[in-house]
Formats: sequence, C-alpha cells, structure tokens
Amino acid sequence: MVPNLRSDEWYAGDDRNSYIHRAWMRRGLPPSAFDGRPQIAIANTASDLSPCNAHLHEVAQSVKNGIYEAGGIPLILPVVSIGENQVRPTAMLMRNLAAMATEEMLRANPIDGVVLLGGCDKTIPALLMAAASVDLPAVVVPGGPMLTGHFRGEPLGCGTDVWRLSEEVRAGTLSEEQFLRSESSMIRSKGHCNTMGTASTMALVTEALGTILPGLAGTPAPDARLLEAAHETGRLAVELVAADRRPSTFLTKANFHNAIVALAAIGGSTNAVVHLLAIAGRLGIDLTIDDFDRIGAEVPLLVNLQPAGRYLMDDLFRAGGFLAVMREVRDLLDPSALTITGQPFVDYLDDAQIWDADVITPRADPLLPAAGITVLRGSLAPGGAIIKPAAASAHLLKHRGRAVVFDSIEDFHARIDDPDLDIDADSVMVLRGCGPKGYPGMPEVSNMPLPQKLLAQGVRDMVRICDGRMSGTAYGTVVLHVTPESAAGGPLAIVQTGDWISLDVRAGRLDLDVAADEIAARTPNSATVDAYAAPRRGWERLYVDHVLQADRGADLDFLVGSSGSTVTRESH
Ligand code: FES
Ligand code: MG
Repeated sequence: MVPNLRSDEWYAGDDRNSYIHRAWMRRGLPPSAFDGRPQIAIANTASDLSPCNAHLHEVAQSVKNGIYEAGGIPLILPVVSIGENQVRPTAMLMRNLAAMATEEMLRANPIDGVVLLGGCDKTIPALLMAAASVDLPAVVVPGGPMLTGHFRGEPLGCGTDVWRLSEEVRAGTLSEEQFLRSESSMIRSKGHCNTMGTASTMALVTEALGTILPGLAGTPAPDARLLEAAHETGRLAVELVAADRRPSTFLTKANFHNAIVALAAIGGSTNAVVHLLAIAGRLGIDLTIDDFDRIGAEVPLLVNLQPAGRYLMDDLFRAGGFLAVMREVRDLLDPSALTITGQPFVDYLDDAQIWDADVITPRADPLLPAAGITVLRGSLAPGGAIIKPAAASAHLLKHRGRAVVFDSIEDFHARIDDPDLDIDADSVMVLRGCGPKGYPGMPEVSNMPLPQKLLAQGVRDMVRICDGRMSGTAYGTVVLHVTPESAAGGPLAIVQTGDWISLDVRAGRLDLDVAADEIAARTPNSATVDAYAAPRRGWERLYVDHVLQADRGADLDFLVGSSGSTVTRESH
C-alpha cells in the first residue's frame, strides 16, 4: 500500500486515539480498511434542492465501485449544494460559503484524496476552490447536461428559451397560455442546463484546466458512459494519492491559458471569468481579467450552441464532443499544461473528430473569427468591466447614448414598462447596486429585459451596463462586472439619467461623457448607496465585509490562497 498516507495520522498504530478513529468508522468495514489503504472522499453536491445535481447519488455509486476496485476506501461526504434557480437572493452569494465549508470538511477529516461531484453552475467552482485551498489530490466528475426537451416540434434550450419566450409574451407575439404550456417541456431529464450556460461552460472549461478525466465533460447525465467514466475516475483517484498529484503540483498558468482558450472556442458563459479568477487566486496563480482579453482575442468561436447559436449540449456530444473542438484550436493551447492523469491535455486530442460540422464548425470556417471576452476600461469602469461580443449585437459594439439609470432591480421592474419612461432604442440602460457587496452576491440581473414599448416597435437589443453578472444562458449587448461596483464607491454610483455614455468595444473603452470636475463635484445619490444591503449578522455580514470585487473573482479576502491539509492537533 501507499506509504505515509495522511489518513495514517488517524488510523495507524495501537494507541487510544487510533482505536477511537477506527472503531467509530468500522460499521461493517473490515480491519483491512485501515491497513494503509487510501481513504477517498466523494464530495457530493447531490440534493433535492439542487435538481440539476440530484442524480449524483447514482454517479457516486459508480465512483465508489472504482475506488474499491483500485484498493481504496470510498467515503461519501455530502457538501453544501447550491441550486442555481432556487437559491435567493442569488446562488453566487453561497459559492464562497460552499467553498469554505467544503475546504474545512476536507481538511478536518481522515482522507487522502477526493472526487468532486458537481454540475449546477456554482457547484464545480466551489468544489475546485475548496480543493485548491486544501491541496489534496482531487478530481472532478461533472454531472452532465440534460437531454433536449421539445415544444411544438422545436427544441427548447434551458434558460435561453425562457428569456426568449417571455420576451415574446411581452412583445405580444406569444400567448401566456402557450408560454405556460412550454414549462413542462423545458426540463426533460436529469442533468444540468443544456445550453452553453454556466454549468456546461464550467464542466468543459474544467476539463481544459486539466482536472477532469479528458473526454468526460459534456457526456449527457442520462448517458451510460457517464457512469463508466465515473467508475474510471474512482480508480484514478486512488492512483492520484500514490502519485501525490495535488492541485499545486500540476496546475500552473498554462492550465488557465488552456481554460481561457476553451472558454472562447465554446462561446462560454461570462461567469467563468469570476470562477477561474477565484480558483487561480486559491492556487497563488497570477491570473487577471486582461489575460482573458489577451488569450481569448485570437480564438475563433467553433461551437454553435445557444445562447450564441442554435444547438444544445447533447448535439455537441454527438457531434464529436469537447475534445473535437479543442483539436481545432490545438495550436493555440499551451502544450506544457498537464492534466490530472499526468499527461498533457494536448495528448488527448489526436483521436478527436468532428461528426457534424454544423454543430462544431471547423477552424477554417468558424462562427466568429474572434470569440473572446473583451475587457473595457474608462471613466465608468476604472477597475475594468467585461462584455461578450459573441452574444452582443454588432451594431451596438460602438455606441453613444443617454443613460437611463435604475437604482436597483426593484426600481427597474417598477418603471421599465411605464409608457411615460423617457427611453428609446439608443438609450443606455444602467443598473447599479448589483455588485458583490451591493446586492449582496452579484446576481445575474444585468441582462435587463427591454421596455415593452420598444419591444413592440421591434427593438431586440440595447446597450445595458451593470455591476452584476448575467446568466450564461443570456444574450445581448450587456456590459457586466463593472468594477469597482457602485456600493464600493465606483463611478456607477454618480451616473445620472440623461448623462451621455460611450461604449467602444474594439477600443476597450467605457466612458461617462461628463466633465471631470462635474464628476468630482457629484456625490452619490444616497438612495443608491444607503439602500444597499447592510446585513447585521451571519454569512451575509461576513460576505459583505470581506468580498473582493469581480476582477478578483469575488472571493473573500481571507480565503485567497491555500492553507494546505495539515491539522496538527487531536480532537480528544
Ligand atoms: Fe442548474 Fe442551470 S439551473 S445548471
Ligand atoms: Mg445560470
């Protein structure tokens, strides 16, 4: 067996403490379970209240079998789970809580390695942040996307089509009855959202990062091959302990380079930016928002999936899968980046093949020549903001318009459909108070629905600016993650309705066209600052007091970095 296991500190020897640790764990396990076999936790985010992850109980069983087969002891550890669409005020508020709680449980327990089971948006990022900070051998099994649902013969994409259909109702082109009828067709099977939203994005990007068995990400949740790969991953976890392959031993900036190339080529969610920044922060890797702009700039969009395109995740899988996409951009990848298997990521691309060139477009014929996320800076976003040009309207990428300011999402909902609201297609909608501190938790509200009266005129996109995030399933010319946020003293707090705002995506600029002396003389409207959340106790209090801005991944300041896995004191 493997020498010097971490779990030996609990189980090895004949003293009173090792007796206690063993005795309470036995419950049917034979004495050989504690003879120096790797103890592998299965950090499981399965939960009835995270419906996208509910099937991970079944996946855990396959992981367990693989661990046993390889001579390890599998131990299921339920961890904090976050159902993206259920949790208020926003799932993002809980990501750091899940990461912190998982980190502490991994460190506190007698384990040598961990298999991380996630799926729904925040769950894989939280698990990876935890694993990076405790630095134990760790490998992810993504739960996989759901199968495509259909309504009236047309495929329905989770999220994206909810936005589209609800806009059609507001525009008067779809009846409310038909809209409600589509509800039961939207979610057809187990698994996470099947658009290129945050869950799909994070699964694929995590494979590019090197922390998933190559070829697994994107396997649909009901597909038998998911269980086969889960079994295989269980065996790998035991090998990781023998090889001492911890996150800090193989994750470098090169791995993040590959993740950013993947993010652009798949047309992935803007949320990946905050998650990758947070994970890199845990590893002490110097990743910045500008790396996304720089590395993504020359990466073509090759995946024709909603929200930017047409198809859904099971189409991507049948068309050749993620590795077929990565093979097309092989020359843009960093060949030095290793995966969890110890082999470079690029070594897994040789056998990949495109079977449907309408879903995965070849490099020679991309959907867009450059798909990366663009970083914007200027007097309205001194710390930076981001936009996803692939999801925006070409005619709005350079635009100057008058601000229509909303102080909160509630203010927005109360006024947006007022026929007297002074707004036209050239206006720039500004929503503030939605940053990490302000909301709190940086919700996905930036893609504000357009005013009904403009929808009725056929307007389908407008420039929108916000210090919050937007759902990975959303689209539009939306400037996100404005830093510093208004509640942290950012200039967004002093914008007034009627101010001119200039957006120039190609130049990377976002400016408030108001004279500097006038900007300096303005004080933030107290309604926009004092009304922001000021929680008095509990997690929200800790979060608001310590959360970093979006350009640092919105992690908590004291969670950046790693504490390792050592615990020196006994419990009794
Ligand atoms: Fe769970 Fe979309 S709500 S992945
Ligand atoms: Mg989402």
